[in-house]
Amino acid sequence: MIELGVNIDHVATLRQARRTYEPDPIWAAVEAELGGADGITVHLREDRRHINDRDVQLLRQSVQCKLNLEMSLAGEIVEIALRTVPDQATLVPERRQEVTTEGGLNLKNEPDRITDVVRRLKSVGVFVSAFIDPDIEQVRIAHQMGFDAVELHTGEYANARGPAVTEQLDRLIQAGAQATRDGLRLHGGHGLNYHNTIPVAQIPMMKELNIGHAIVSRAIFVGLRQAVTEMKQLLIRADVQRA
Ligand code: PXP
Repeated sequence: MIELGVNIDHVATLRQARRTYEPDPIWAAVEAELGGADGITVHLREDRRHINDRDVQLLRQSVQCKLNLEMSLAGEIVEIALRTVPDQATLVPERRQEVTTEGGLNLKNEPDRITDVVRRLKSVGVFVSAFIDPDIEQVRIAHQMGFDAVELHTGEYANARGPAVTEQLDRLIQAGAQATRDGLRLHGGHGLNYHNTIPVAQIPMMKELNIGHAIVSRAIFVGLRQAVTEMKQLLIRADVQRA
């Protein structure tokens, strides 16, 4: 069964719009779990534009499913991750001006630094994933660096139109096959919604999808618990068809 990780950063973004206490991402995590989420994903950004240190601390105490911390390689953030010990950490690139994570982490940049962060996180028992573009070479490097999993960036697939959709899906399938050959757990995420997720969920050996924007957007109209349940049903359907 494919796991659904629900990214609740946008809930914190709304709170920060007024710098008040609501909506609280802790409430969102509870609703998401009640809706069938297998994981709660948050990105503690260096500028703390949405999720903050208090959120991560309380989520660590309250989330009963998997807590997945998206994080950069910044020293301060790594220290927080080592103290908090999320179930999973996903290493992502981070640029201050970006609206959201724009591309995968290029594992060819600063390989020694990345390898060291992976080693330190694993030493405290964190399962470590790399958010990378669907590129066979990046997958191979992730394996060599000791990552446990790769999360393939599905953004280009999500933005593709016409024949490019099949091309982008094929890139994901090829990179996924390499991850499987290398013994890496296969994850995907970014830009997935209620219309484009099924083909990605049907990629052989796909184990986890992290989805935020589409679920939180739908939650405004149907409630978060319902929005999560609908996405979870979609993944169940994809899994049944894949079998
Ligand atoms: N995976 C990663 C690594 C991300 O950075 C994000 C966005 O924060 C997501 C998944 C979720 O993307 P979206 O909000 O487009 O569903």
